[in-house]
Amino acid sequence: MFVLGLMGSPRTQGNTDLLLAAFLDGAQAQGAAVLTVDVPSRHIEPCRGCRFCEKEGFCIQQKDEMGEMNYLLRRADLVVLATPIFFYGPSAQMKALIDRSQALWARRYIMKLKDPKVNFRQGFLLAVGATTGKELFTGTSLIAKYFYDAVGARYEGFLGFREMEAPGAIARHPTALADARKKGEELTGGLSGRRRALFLCRENACRSQMAEAFLQYHGGEHFDVQSAGDRPAGEVNPLAVEAMAEKGIDLAFRRPRGMDAIEGGGRPLDLVVQVGCEQSCPVTPAGRVENWELEDPAERPLEFMRTTRDEIEKRVKLLIESAE
Ligand SMILES: Cc1cc2nc3c(=O)[nH]c(=O)nc-3n(C[C@H](O)[C@H](O)[C@H](O)COP(=O)(O)O)c2cc1C
Repeated sequence: MFVLGLMGSPRTQGNTDLLLAAFLDGAQAQGAAVLTVDVPSRHIEPCRGCRFCEKEGFCIQQKDEMGEMNYLLRRADLVVLATPIFFYGPSAQMKALIDRSQALWARRYIMKLKDPKVNFRQGFLLAVGATTGKELFTGTSLIAKYFYDAVGARYEGFLGFREMEAPGAIARHPTALADARKKGEELTGGLSGRRRALFLCRENACRSQMAEAFLQYHGGEHFDVQSAGDRPAGEVNPLAVEAMAEKGIDLAFRRPRGMDAIEGGGRPLDLVVQVGCEQSCPVTPAGRVENWELEDPAERPLEFMRTTRDEIEKRVKLLIESAE
């Protein structure tokens, strides 16, 4: 399980930073892999409002780090926006990232594609401000709600702390850091009991990617799913992306990953499925190991990719049934 913390304050070691660290500590205590992105230090251009993404499904601006953010957002099981209140909203750096999620919004609502994790991904907001304003968090909470809708996450609410001015003031608050830690534990805890499943193939570009997406989409509440390959390709096969899009499932922004990227390191896997690589897959101990003899669809026409996709979906559904 992967938790992404987006730290929106330009002041490192400030209140936002400390609050997010406490939340992520709680998540880690539940066995989650966590990553903090220091948003202001990333190159993320503001949205130009050109509507390119509404036609093409990705942003015309390709030279900044939003592509990396989309990859991380899509990988996350839980996303945490953490921001100081600047003029009753999030920091400008955070708002730039939020506006750029319009490409994900377009994929969801214009192209009608479903992110495989949409049914169980969670989103949460942490916010701090200096004053006692009654509506201090209202605007930012609304922004978070619509951001999470765009990125395919269920908004789980927020923790907001008033009268936090000087850097580090939050550490002197009687409950703030403990509250954030507890929230991190609680939200992660809801998903941490899932069975851990891993699909393996050589390049992690077609078969294991499709299998991962189908198991996340059809059974993600019960399975914590990853995929990997021992020689990861440079990109997910475009024909696999196309074949999955025909089924309404979006593989955009996913990347082939090597064995070293498997999250949850020491924890045992419940299920490993070796897809077409019984002889060559890296040995991975698990409660149950299956071999699916499926020919490699790489370099084959789209029609063959479709047949492979349908066969994989059938097998994934059987997997879910047999695990119930
Ligand atoms: C540009 C700017 C605008 C701010 N606007 C507000 C505001 O509207 N309301 C408020 O209560 N605090 C406001 N603050 C105060 C910060 O929210 C507060 O100091 C917060 O603790 C900073 O978090 P950090 O330590 O993570 O940077 C503002 C601060 C700055 C620099």
